[in-house]
Amino acid sequence: MKKTEHLFTALYNRRSVRHFKPDPIAPEVLHRIMEAARWAPSGGNGQAHVFGIVTDENTKRALAQAAGGQMWIAEAPVVIACCARLYKPEEESEFSQEVNRLRWGGEAYDWFRSSPDPHHMALLFMNSTPLIPGAYIQLAAAAHGIGSCWVGFLNIAQVSDILQLPNDVRCYYLMPLGYPAEEKRRPRKPLSELTFRDTWNQSWDAAIAYPSFGDLVLRPYQPADEEAWLATWAQVAVTSRAWVVLHHGKPTYKRESLELVAEYNGEIVGFMDVEIESEPGELGYGKDSCCGFIWEFGVRPDHQGEGIAKRLIAAAEEWLSARSIRRMEFWSMDEQAQAYYEHLGMQEMERHWQFYTRLPQDVNQGMREQDKFGLQIAFGTCPIDHLPALKGKYRIREDELEKPLICIGYDYRW
Ligand SMILES: Cc1cc2nc3c(=O)[nH]c(=O)nc-3n(C[C@H](O)[C@H](O)[C@H](O)COP(=O)(O)O)c2cc1C
Repeated sequence: MKKTEHLFTALYNRRSVRHFKPDPIAPEVLHRIMEAARWAPSGGNGQAHVFGIVTDENTKRALAQAAGGQMWIAEAPVVIACCARLYKPEEESEFSQEVNRLRWGGEAYDWFRSSPDPHHMALLFMNSTPLIPGAYIQLAAAAHGIGSCWVGFLNIAQVSDILQLPNDVRCYYLMPLGYPAEEKRRPRKPLSELTFRDTWNQSWDAAIAYPSFGDLVLRPYQPADEEAWLATWAQVAVTSRAWVVLHHGKPTYKRESLELVAEYNGEIVGFMDVEIESEPGELGYGKDSCCGFIWEFGVRPDHQGEGIAKRLIAAAEEWLSARSIRRMEFWSMDEQAQAYYEHLGMQEMERHWQFYTRLPQDVNQGMREQDKFGLQIAFGTCPIDHLPALKGKYRIREDELEKPLICIGYDYRW
């Protein structure tokens, strides 16, 4: 995985959480999350942000009351009080004055400064101080699977009193943190509505040219995908009995073939390789017509059940149809895969045993003596009713990891 993908996963998976499990957050995890805030940028590197870590039940309840009675806040094991140190108006640095005059215009700035309580200006101007470090906290929490929610609907004076803050420190936002007890994704406007190019009336074409976060993209495999493809393949292969050989490189094919990957938020989460027979029966079992033979097919375990396999099959179907092929063959020793193919209505064509065995000792001995050929283990197949007979004659491996498995071939037609 490319390093930045961790960040994008956190960005995409973060959402406001308002129901929490009671599970505590480990102090070292919380420390790591707060470190993220420390590395946030701030104007002039002023670092005027300060964060209160609130775990006391009574204090959490009082804060929730001061947040317009949003009592769910007190459910979180930790509430971060996002505060800022206010500057004293009479001590506002020349640089800060210059910045504020430029930003707001001299007239507005003078109007603020003329308030009977000069404190008001600093109170308002420092509102944004905890926002960027707070956003870092949210993302760091999301990266640890911890949910959070900004709380800006609150009485700043009241929460600052509850936290016993000095007058020149105010709490602007609360951020409850905890392991989520709810899953809710809120919709977003399309990127095209949120962007413009150069000047207001022009649209930024790239906004619609590329897939958005959360879109599943099916596309042809490219040589640059090899490392990512193998990493995904390995994750699938260790949880499946479908493969006998280990891949150390992406398999390639002699005949016309389709090598597809399913990509989700920049990561390969599924794959399918189909090779077309030139003559019926060349690769597969069916003899009546050429098939698209499925060599590689899988979906990463954390994305199973999302319809990705179905979409890969549909894409292969379309590609084969364009080549006048109306049939695919799927073979697997994996029971979960077999159940899935049956669920899709595929027809079983054939089944046989596949197993590992040692040769009979006399045969092995003879080969050793004649040819200096030490055959350690063989991989074999036999008809479905034949295994008991072989078991008496050969040393067939029976232990859990190498036990005989039934391989079933399925015919899929459209
Ligand atoms: C500055 C700010 C203040 C917010 N205040 C509250 C709040 O007081 N209560 C609340 O339930 N959610 C609050 N939210 C959360 C938003 O409702 C939420 O971010 C938005 O609906 C988008 O949903 P999402 O974060 O799950 O994508 C606040 C968000 C921001 C950025």
